This record gives sequence, C-alpha cells and structure tokens, in this order.
Amino acid sequence: MRNLKYTLLALLFAAPVTYAKTPASDNYALYCVQCHGLSGNGKGVNIRDMSVQPRDHTDAKAMAGRSDAEIFKVIKEGGLAIDKSVQMPPWGDVLSDAEITDLVAYLRTLCQCVYGASK
Ligand code: HEC
Repeated sequence: MRNLKYTLLALLFAAPVTYAKTPASDNYALYCVQCHGLSGNGKGVNIRDMSVQPRDHTDAKAMAGRSDAEIFKVIKEGGLAIDKSVQMPPWGDVLSDAEITDLVAYLRTLCQCVYGASK
C-alpha cells in the first residue's frame, strides 16, 4: 500500500514534466509555418496579404546578424520588441521559455548559422 502511494505521488509529479514541452519542430509546424513557410524560407500561405514579409529563416546572412538573445526576445515578445513589425506576433503566452529556447536552436539549424557567422 505504502509503495503504491509513493508510485502515485511520483506519477503526479512526473506527468506534467513529460508532456509540458513540445519539440521545436512541432511548435514551428504549428505556430510559424503559416507565415515563415513549411521549410522556413519565409514563403508561408499568409504572405500574399502581408505588408511586411516574414523573415526567411534559411537566410544565413540575415539570421547570423541576430544574437540568440534577440531571437528569443522577438519570439517571446513579438516584432515590436526588437523594432520590427507588429505582424510578427508575440508567443510568450503560448510557448514556455524552454520551448522558445528550443525554437532558437531550431532556427539555427534552419539557417545553418550562429551569431556572427554562417556554419
Ligand atoms: C502572422 C505571421 C507570423 C507568424 C505566425 C510568425 N511570424 Fe515570425 N515574423 C513575421 C514577420 C512579418 C516578420 C518580419 C518582421 C519585420 O521584418 O519587421 C517575422 C520575423 C521573425 C523573426 C525575426 C527575424 C529577424 O531577425 O528579423 C523571428 C526570429 C521569427 N519571426 C520567428 C518566428 C517563430 C519562431 C514563429 C513561430 C513561433 C513565428 N515567427 C511566427 C511573421 C510571423
């Protein structure tokens, strides 16, 4: 009985941790592709009607111009936070900081770049 109680307690604490974080590629496919495109090239289905075009995340030169901290900030707080367009929405209410950190790393794989240089 005692063991069962501890097992249930352990499950209670373990469960939220295992499902709270979604892989970056899934979050990108859910929340970003409609503007930034399925391959991240900035050609999502929304762009015809957008006055400011979404960043091409495969553009190594442009993406290397941004630090990870800036990319984190623009995802969390939206375009305005880094003096860019309001048409880049804020995601801080939808994604956790951990998920945003994973997205930054994911964008680095799309651009094949790091801050200051292409790979
Ligand atoms: C409604 C369309 C839309 C959606 C959805 C969207 N973005 Fe954007 N995003 C934009 C636009 C437009 C810009 C360019 C803003 C500008 O140049 O002023 C942008 C810019 C960015 C930039 C800044 C690049 C730079 O250095 O200028 C990053 C990073 C970014 N988006 C990541 C994401 C991520 C990650 C998601 C999904 C969680 C996402 N975006 C979802 C429209 C969108």
